[in-house]
Amino acid sequence: MSRPSAVHRATPRGLSNPPSAPSVTQGAVATRPDASQCRKLEGRHAGCVRELEEARRVLQDTVTDVIAALVAAIEMKDKYAYGHSLREAGYAVALAQAMRLPKQQVEDIRRGALIHDIGMIFVSPRIIHKPVELAEDEFEAVKKHAALGAAVVSKVHLLRDVAKIVRHHHERYDGSGYPDGLADDHIPLGARVVAVADAFEAMTEERPYRRMLTLDKALAELERHAGGQFDPRVMKTFVSLVRRKVAQSPVPQDGSLLLAEVVIDSTLTYEPSRSGGDGRGRGRRR
Ligand SMILES: [Fe+2]
Repeated sequence: MSRPSAVHRATPRGLSNPPSAPSVTQGAVATRPDASQCRKLEGRHAGCVRELEEARRVLQDTVTDVIAALVAAIEMKDKYAYGHSLREAGYAVALAQAMRLPKQQVEDIRRGALIHDIGMIFVSPRIIHKPVELAEDEFEAVKKHAALGAAVVSKVHLLRDVAKIVRHHHERYDGSGYPDGLADDHIPLGARVVAVADAFEAMTEERPYRRMLTLDKALAELERHAGGQFDPRVMKTFVSLVRRKVAQSPVPQDGSLLLAEVVIDSTLTYEPSRSGGDGRGRGRRR
């Protein structure tokens, strides 16, 4: 009497009776595709990979469009805030790259810096442009912009990490910031990066209520607030980066636009790019 074949000995598949290792191995040998079937399978696999890449490209383009829409909303509300966001995004990306953060995190930081103040569209222009110190209730109204902006951005699932940057960009390393009073490493790293870039850009830019600081004074302010307002490691990396870039520059840098371009290695603009561009183009200045 002949022995049953390997196929006949294989245990039937079922939830309560999974196949044993030998029967699967022998079954696979019995059903192994020939060369032409292999070529067909490889072709099908390559087609699936192309479809996945296309779907990913469409998703990224959609995210880029959403960021562009929010940037446009900021610009419509306040053209000066737009220029501030552009420079801040440049500083934040340069810092994130100096920290050797992963590519996706750098991109989230760039997006977070571009739209960090999106919540300001809910704040009265009378308060935003007030040339003197804000009253307490006015400052409370301004403070709401972080949570309001995050609430808007978090509606886009793919921007959930960016929403965290938007919500926490006014937290302070010592826990005295807002909206949640987070401290040290409890503050998302992207928000700690954007906080340093935000402060540096603000200090090196002329404002209606105060003159811009010189480069040395702005860097000294960052160092003075290490451990209080800023993550000391993030601050130190940024100060080293700026000093190195400025030292390498052939011309003295004191105006904020020149300074930004020296530090960032790029002309500042945000033009929605299609299919995987980095969103940085040329020529636009405020
Ligand atoms: Fe802000």
